[in-house]
Amino acid sequence: MVASEATPFAKTGGLADVIGALPAALQHAGNEVAVVMPRYRQIPYLETESAFDGLRLFAGPHAWSVDIRTMLHNGVRFYFVEHPHLFDREGIYAQRSFDFWDNHRRFAVLALAALGVVETLFPADVIHFHDWQAGLVPVYLKDQQWDNPKFDGVKTVCTIHNLGYQGRFGKQVFSDLGLNEGWLRPDNLEFFGDVSFLKAGIVNADWVTTVSPTYAREIQTPEGGFSFDGILRSRSAHLSGILNGVDYNEWSPEVDPHIVANYSADDLEGKRACKLDLLREFGLPTDNPDRPLIGIVSRFAVQKGFDLVAGIAQLFAEEDVQLVILGSGEWKYEQIFNDWQRWLPGKVGVWIGYNNKLAHKIEAGSDMFLMPSLYEPCGLNQIYSLRYGTVPVVRATGGLEDTIQEDTGFKFWDYSVGGLYDALRAALGAYRNRDPWVERMRRGMAKDFSWDASARQYTELYRMLTGKAG
Ligand code: ADP
Ligand code: GLC
Repeated sequence: MVASEATPFAKTGGLADVIGALPAALQHAGNEVAVVMPRYRQIPYLETESAFDGLRLFAGPHAWSVDIRTMLHNGVRFYFVEHPHLFDREGIYAQRSFDFWDNHRRFAVLALAALGVVETLFPADVIHFHDWQAGLVPVYLKDQQWDNPKFDGVKTVCTIHNLGYQGRFGKQVFSDLGLNEGWLRPDNLEFFGDVSFLKAGIVNADWVTTVSPTYAREIQTPEGGFSFDGILRSRSAHLSGILNGVDYNEWSPEVDPHIVANYSADDLEGKRACKLDLLREFGLPTDNPDRPLIGIVSRFAVQKGFDLVAGIAQLFAEEDVQLVILGSGEWKYEQIFNDWQRWLPGKVGVWIGYNNKLAHKIEAGSDMFLMPSLYEPCGLNQIYSLRYGTVPVVRATGGLEDTIQEDTGFKFWDYSVGGLYDALRAALGAYRNRDPWVERMRRGMAKDFSWDASARQYTELYRMLTGKAG
């Protein structure tokens, strides 16, 4: 596996949850797996050991010398690419929301180093790479290793976690990559005059997957394709959707160490304590624990549907409800919710930033979880919500469509303020009838999205590609 994030080492979103959990599930399904990722500053160097010193990588005018550090985490071998100049920085991709100017070099080196790991430390049948950051893996494989017997028969799988992030750079970066001009064609790395690392991955991988079956269909349409729909249609015979799982060791109310009281579908008592604790965390009144509490945990990005949320302030003014929001990202959304907090005192609580403990408390303490995404490749929070008996209110797109049913949550289809308004109204109406509501919570809690099913599907894919029975 080659990726730029993995819990608990580095996380900006769901990709990290996936790379933190899928490898162990794949091992459980009979595969031998290692993960290659950069050693960013927050990954303690002294907790890693040397696996290879002075691995030489060549990208045209540049020769890089990296060390490979290693650690066993939850039984999975991690290889960290050590290059202080490239990776020992404040931030993973950016500092204060400005992307690093040399991200193309940083992630070209990740791809090259991954091939170096396969050559020297961990012979692989399949190199499974994730998102644009690892998109050059099959390019360098074909370009630099085509006659290296160590890579005979090696297959590549590209998983798209989010088509909105394409690793797009101006054409001037091309000379830094050490590839001949032949690669820079519209049927390969070139994308409207620029270079796209994600396109490189999609075009050159043996197989492409994305993280839900519905998203796999949506990205082949002009509406969901971010201008990649044509390329993706051309690969449709080698493209499939495999739904993410979630790690129930991390996200279950029975065992969660971050919440004030544990609970289960059979004994929901603790959920009330979690709700009171959550209201207190946000400094909101706890006078009426039966008042519905809606939670949001999200990156503040257009993708997550905040333009719709911004349109329903009136509903929060009219109804006797409370809302807690945890997130960070685009400044304009931070502003909107800070304004709401002032306009609707006692009703709205906002926490700007990243806070894993609070994310758990929101999953446990809320009655409903709001996720009205414009698009959602898979989405993990709504699946966590199901397990915590927190009823999801979602727009039926991508993985939200695939994981939420009308008997476990509330869905709307049309991306409009009216659509969201009606769905929330329906949810608030249903909440008043306690018994059917609890039945709905229990149906959600009983759903199983553990990684085993996804790991089985990936394993079948690897076997099909390599022709090996495993
Ligand atoms: P995406 O990857 O598009 O952001 P997902 O739903 O797949 O969406 O995953 C988001 C992950 O990031 C979840 O584990 C969620 O709890 C976490 N998360 C998002 N924002 C925050 C935040 N502000 N604080 C803590 N965790 C967050
Ligand atoms: C992306 C998507 C999200 C998905 C996650 C993990 O960040 O936005 O929907 O759950 O990747 O695959």
